[in-house]
Amino acid sequence: MSAGETHPRILLVTGSTRGGSTNTAALRSVADPGGRAVTELFEGLADLPAFNPDDDRDPLPASVEALRCQMGSAAGVLFCSPEYAGALPGSFKNLLDWMVGGGGLYGKPVAWINVAGPGRAAAADQSLAVVLGYLGAEVVEAACRHVVVPRDAVGADGLIRDEALRADLAEAMRAFVDHIASGSDALDPGRSP
Ligand SMILES: Cc1cc2nc3c(=O)[nH]c(=O)nc-3n(C[C@H](O)[C@H](O)[C@H](O)COP(=O)(O)O)c2cc1C
Repeated sequence: MSAGETHPRILLVTGSTRGGSTNTAALRSVADPGGRAVTELFEGLADLPAFNPDDDRDPLPASVEALRCQMGSAAGVLFCSPEYAGALPGSFKNLLDWMVGGGGLYGKPVAWINVAGPGRAAAADQSLAVVLGYLGAEVVEAACRHVVVPRDAVGADGLIRDEALRADLAEAMRAFVDHIASGSDALDPGRSP
């Protein structure tokens, strides 16, 4: 990037609340996209209250305010969620329900990585596509990937060490950053030409 340009900030959002989560580990392991973007892991999934339209007004619950602020200011959002009972986990759907108000994902580039085993969790992808469609997000298909992450690939530090897996995850992030960089003028209308 040339002088004066800022790195796009990508928010990483896991759909799992589990310690040792393969989904969270995948996101932690793509957290350094080679100096072309900065990343931030959203850590407040379990802190969000159950969505209630009556509470979707100022002052918002602090955890919801933080979510909307981080999503709204990100240049893109990368999701990684397990499938529970043939759909998205309730806690993750709850997060997405809170994003309907405020419109923070409208027109926002988003992608997802699915880390489930072969042939599994297709319904999670489909559910996420439907919900993101309602939210008006721009799904970057070229950056969406299936990268199987077995539980024993996650180290005690919550990171994936396997180089082949890390390379596949990094490739997804590279495709996502490429897309965001190609539209950066549109994403940052205040930037000088
Ligand atoms: C309540 C529950 C329901 C699940 N339902 C499904 C399912 O429908 N399809 C699937 O592929 N895996 C299912 N799984 C397996 C999880 O997706 C798997 O444990 C995954 O590793 C969880 O992601 P994590 O490691 O990030 O926590 C389910 C697990 C739990 C706890």
